[in-house]
Amino acid sequence: MLPATKAIPKELLPIYDRPIIEHVVKEAIDGGIREIIFVTRSGKEAIENHFDAHYELEHRLVKKGKNKILEDIVKIIPDYVKISSIRQADALGLGHAILCAKHLINDEAFAVLLPDVLIVDRKNRQKNFSFSHLMKAWNKTGIGQVMVERIDFDDTDKYGIVEMSKKNINEFESAPLKALIEKPEPQNAPSNLALLGRYILPPQLFNFLEDINPGVGGEIQLTDALFKLLTKKSLNAVLTDAHIFDCGNKHGFLAANLLVGMQDPKTRTKIYALMNKLNDDDF
Ligand code: G1P
Repeated sequence: MLPATKAIPKELLPIYDRPIIEHVVKEAIDGGIREIIFVTRSGKEAIENHFDAHYELEHRLVKKGKNKILEDIVKIIPDYVKISSIRQADALGLGHAILCAKHLINDEAFAVLLPDVLIVDRKNRQKNFSFSHLMKAWNKTGIGQVMVERIDFDDTDKYGIVEMSKKNINEFESAPLKALIEKPEPQNAPSNLALLGRYILPPQLFNFLEDINPGVGGEIQLTDALFKLLTKKSLNAVLTDAHIFDCGNKHGFLAANLLVGMQDPKTRTKIYALMNKLNDDDF
């Protein structure tokens, strides 16, 4: 997403009217998460600021009587949700980022949500259905849960790919995993079911993370530690039918903006009107 992210953390790029990280934090809260830990790095302080009070702005909005927008800014997240933030000094991979939070998580189960992935559930489902469902599956089984989506076979080298222990799985069924591999070439991929960046994991995972060697790209890969969890029969996957947008690339980012924008009826009308007006000569 460069040059857009030269000075702005990618997590703060807007999806419609708010930064992507706000959408993802709300997804977690809707699923029942009450403590959020950001693992960031230098230059990303603006993420913390977004969730903090901004007295000067609030004062100005009060003076101008802009109450609706004021309410939106003051109440980004409910008071009962606690946010903390820690630094990952070196970009040594997703597994390493999670290890950085070990001392704050203590000996509890935890969720991992990657902030460049936006999940938009189907219209007929409640808000943030997919993540809430993952939480329910964890609460019911006490077994680690990863969310997966079906992708094009050509794209397997961009994702962690899973193999289920049975051939046909139903959407939203929590089923055991047989294998996991990080970013395989299409000819080596066991399926086209991809890890999409939502995990609920037992504290035991930290032992595996501390034990593994750097994997693909020389990084400490979460997927490699998940594989160890799988060998202990402690890892299930849940297939979602939601729209998944990888906002770390232009197409995903644009598509997410269009879909979220079109959920607002006024914006939807404007987008359709614009599309109808445009013709090939405009490009
Ligand atoms: C990470 C994970 C990968 C997962 C992906 C989802 O990769 O390592 O298993 O499929 O997120 O977005 P990254 O995108 O950080 O390379």
